[in-house]
Amino acid sequence: MQRIQTAGQEHLLKFFEELPEDKQSAYLDELASQDWELLPALIREYVLQKPAIALPENLEPAPYFPLEPRNGSEADYYAQADVAGAEALSSGKVAAITVAGGQGSRLGFDGPKGTYPIAPVSGKTLFQYFAEALQSASRKYNTSLHWYIMTSVINDKATRDFFAGNDYFGLPADRVHFFTQGFMPAIGYDGKLLMADKGALALSPDGHGGTLLALRKSGMLDDMKARGVEYLSYFQVDNPLVPVVDKRFIGLHILEKSEMSAITLAKTNAHEKVGNFCVANGKLHVIEYSDLPEALALATDANGKLKFIAGSPAIHVISRAFVERLTSGGRLELDWHRADKKIKCIDSNGSAVEPDSPNGVKLESFIFDALKLAGKTMIFEADRKEEFAPTKNATGVDSVESCRLMMIERDCRRLERCGVTVPRKADGSADCAVEFSPKAVWDDEDARNYVARHNISCIEPGASLYWE
Ligand code: UTP
Repeated sequence: MQRIQTAGQEHLLKFFEELPEDKQSAYLDELASQDWELLPALIREYVLQKPAIALPENLEPAPYFPLEPRNGSEADYYAQADVAGAEALSSGKVAAITVAGGQGSRLGFDGPKGTYPIAPVSGKTLFQYFAEALQSASRKYNTSLHWYIMTSVINDKATRDFFAGNDYFGLPADRVHFFTQGFMPAIGYDGKLLMADKGALALSPDGHGGTLLALRKSGMLDDMKARGVEYLSYFQVDNPLVPVVDKRFIGLHILEKSEMSAITLAKTNAHEKVGNFCVANGKLHVIEYSDLPEALALATDANGKLKFIAGSPAIHVISRAFVERLTSGGRLELDWHRADKKIKCIDSNGSAVEPDSPNGVKLESFIFDALKLAGKTMIFEADRKEEFAPTKNATGVDSVESCRLMMIERDCRRLERCGVTVPRKADGSADCAVEFSPKAVWDDEDARNYVARHNISCIEPGASLYWE
């Protein structure tokens, strides 16, 4: 109680005497778990003012390995990486990790985002899509990949129940591990913590940067160590095109002795809403699109190509040893980022408030801020069309609609590479809806075998086909 008062947050106790006894003790536990020493400083720095953006000086574009090797020796190096990556996968040194603790507020879907039925023909959920891809990857590398899924207070139970209720989509249940991230209290613009009701704080997950400490606190790091897992293939729950594991990316991470690696995609325009890979003083930084100075965003090289072309789709390989090092003291100081949000809460009379414009701040940390803490990093370019279809909104840009179209196009291109005729409209887009189950077709080799086995030579215009 004393600490709450010292922090200037005594309003949190206004309704305490009204609460039933069991609610009182649960609320006291919740209050006790907050960091009352840290909060006043965070409120001063991030809530009562808009934090100044402290950009590192001398930002330069970060170098990366291009998708296609530039010369013979690079081609040899990529071939070595393929071998190293495949070896790490086959020997059980790689696990997949999916961050699924977010609120998915832009999607406006009632439930964990991973339970959204994204697949264009079958209506399969994001979680099932990944589970099937992991089964195929396990088959390919003659292993049984472990899958670590980060949830949060808002969706942990619903996520676990969803997997249990669906028999883990064919994965062995003991290969799927859930762990829960930390949370932060939401803060009103006056610097006062918001209350969800008379006996609860308005809490929200602490950002995907919370993954690293949550891995330590949940015991998952120890679990990985005991199983011999050394490399984490990290991806977000809202990108069904992610390959889940990529032997070349993992292999380059290993050969480069990188602690944390990142996939990059060529930005589509100077102001695309993705983070920018930059280097400053020998460290890799991801600078958010909104923070990159205009002159740098527009700068071009001698060929007219954007200088800061390398965008981040939030796909990483992270060494377990790096996470151990960063979190060894049981703490991790990543930067905080402020997000202005509409936060459901109660007012000073205890009445419920459902704001229609932002009424406070949520603080989050981002996983990519760990890159500048790594001794060695590596970036590898991917083909956007093949690997990136973010599902952020219900319609429009980065939406369910755009994601489904990208999934269809990806499978159509696969068919065409196998010699199948795909109907196309005048603008070049597919005039059909096709979908491969990732369990049947995970890569081009699977596609070739599938097409040959099923004698597929052409698709009828307007067809809607699902193959498993
Ligand atoms: P986003 O930044 O898209 O946030 O998360 P979000 O919460 O899913 O969606 P909005 O902003 O409310 O619409 C990118 C990825 O990071 C995960 C999300 O689940 C998603 O896979 N994430 C985000 C977490 O796991 N925890 C967090 O605290 C935030």
